[in-house]
Amino acid sequence: MPSAHLDTISLVDPAFWRRTDRDQIFEQFRRLAPIWWHPDSDTIKGFWSLTRHAEVDLVSRDWKTFCSRLGTAITDEPVELSRALGGMLNMDAPEHVRLRKIVNNAFKPKSMQAIASGIEDCARQTISAIAEQGECDFATDIAQPFPVNVICQMLGAPSSDWRELHRLSTVALGADGLDIATGEETREQVALDAFYALNHYGEDLCKSRRKQPRDDLISTIATAQVDGDRLSVEEVGVFFQLLITAGVETTGSALGQGFLALSQFPGERRLWQDDFERLAPTAVEEIVRYATPVIHFRRTATRDTELDGVAISEGDKVVLWYLSANRDESVFVDPFRLDLARHPNPQLGYGGGGRHFCLGANLARMEITALFKYLFEYLPDIEVSGDATPLPSRFVNGLLSLPCRYTPSSRKIQ
Ligand code: HEM
Repeated sequence: MPSAHLDTISLVDPAFWRRTDRDQIFEQFRRLAPIWWHPDSDTIKGFWSLTRHAEVDLVSRDWKTFCSRLGTAITDEPVELSRALGGMLNMDAPEHVRLRKIVNNAFKPKSMQAIASGIEDCARQTISAIAEQGECDFATDIAQPFPVNVICQMLGAPSSDWRELHRLSTVALGADGLDIATGEETREQVALDAFYALNHYGEDLCKSRRKQPRDDLISTIATAQVDGDRLSVEEVGVFFQLLITAGVETTGSALGQGFLALSQFPGERRLWQDDFERLAPTAVEEIVRYATPVIHFRRTATRDTELDGVAISEGDKVVLWYLSANRDESVFVDPFRLDLARHPNPQLGYGGGGRHFCLGANLARMEITALFKYLFEYLPDIEVSGDATPLPSRFVNGLLSLPCRYTPSSRKIQ
């Protein structure tokens, strides 16, 4: 049973996500109540809260008992809505397998190698854009635009639209952390409008690529044959939106939180900067563990079952707190330390093992590697110069702002 103190905690209350002691609270949950029934809030029905690595991984792997088709958000939206917003993220086999097959190849290491130079170009351009200034906001000038440019280029969206697509993606995922409400609309409605605007943009792109396919990912998706059929225009639109929303804020948060962590552990940064290539594979994995850009996802029990002796009923929501699992002291030695050489590192930042394991993990790894490589090369003395402003969200562990300074460089970046 949770201690009296834990009983007073609401993990869905925005105020909790503004607290600076949340790591300590999750530590208590792991120790005292790792499988805890979180009571109803005013707007969200109660759910099982899983904070240990073991259960988060186990539930992620057992898709038959803990399904995604009833939604993966902590909120209780209708199934039709969660499919329109999350596409395959909110499906199970066989539908999920059918859709994932279409894009799997494009994200495999071999295909990623083919676009490696495009990713590196984007990294250099992003750094080049601020190199002469001497100061910038790492979050908004570097960490966020870079993954937008990469995924938009892969998908084939014209560069004149990238800024707007980024805005829509930030708003779509910002319902619980950003002040996006307008005079007439609630923040949830504004976020929903942004999701649909991305879907519609993807639909238009699909129609144009069906007439004239190009060498881009949206053409691959729009023209793919699945079991003898093509996807509907709406399905392609959802795919487009999912790839943008899943690929942008996440990688941006890994880069922003990663840079902040490197400034808090300067010895680790020095080691990496001195021997970049050797440390890169473990460093990038550790940055994702440390940053844990996606704070949670959810499953729903499809039958009565149990987890470590705790009875779970059919229909119960089960929330996987990756942020806590990645600090589980029974799995990670000294979990609050950034250890760029950490190995093995069974971090769950890309989700637990299983069918929904992040499609874009290889892409994200290459993006993080490329960005830090060129950052250290062109702005070697870049440092944090002011307070970080965290995004107060229970879903994306992002940064709104991270001021930094460096010796201006007019060296040609190529
Ligand atoms: C550091 C960056 C990233 C992190 C931390 C991250 C995290 C995650 C997590 C936790 C899941 C699991 C969802 C679940 O189990 O229900 C997931 C799934 C997914 N991710 Fe990522 N992601 C990242 C980058 C990307 C990128 C660059 C893309 C590219 C487009 C992407 C596309 C997806 C998609 C499409 C899914 C759904 C997969 C499925 O349902 O089969 N992600 N991601």
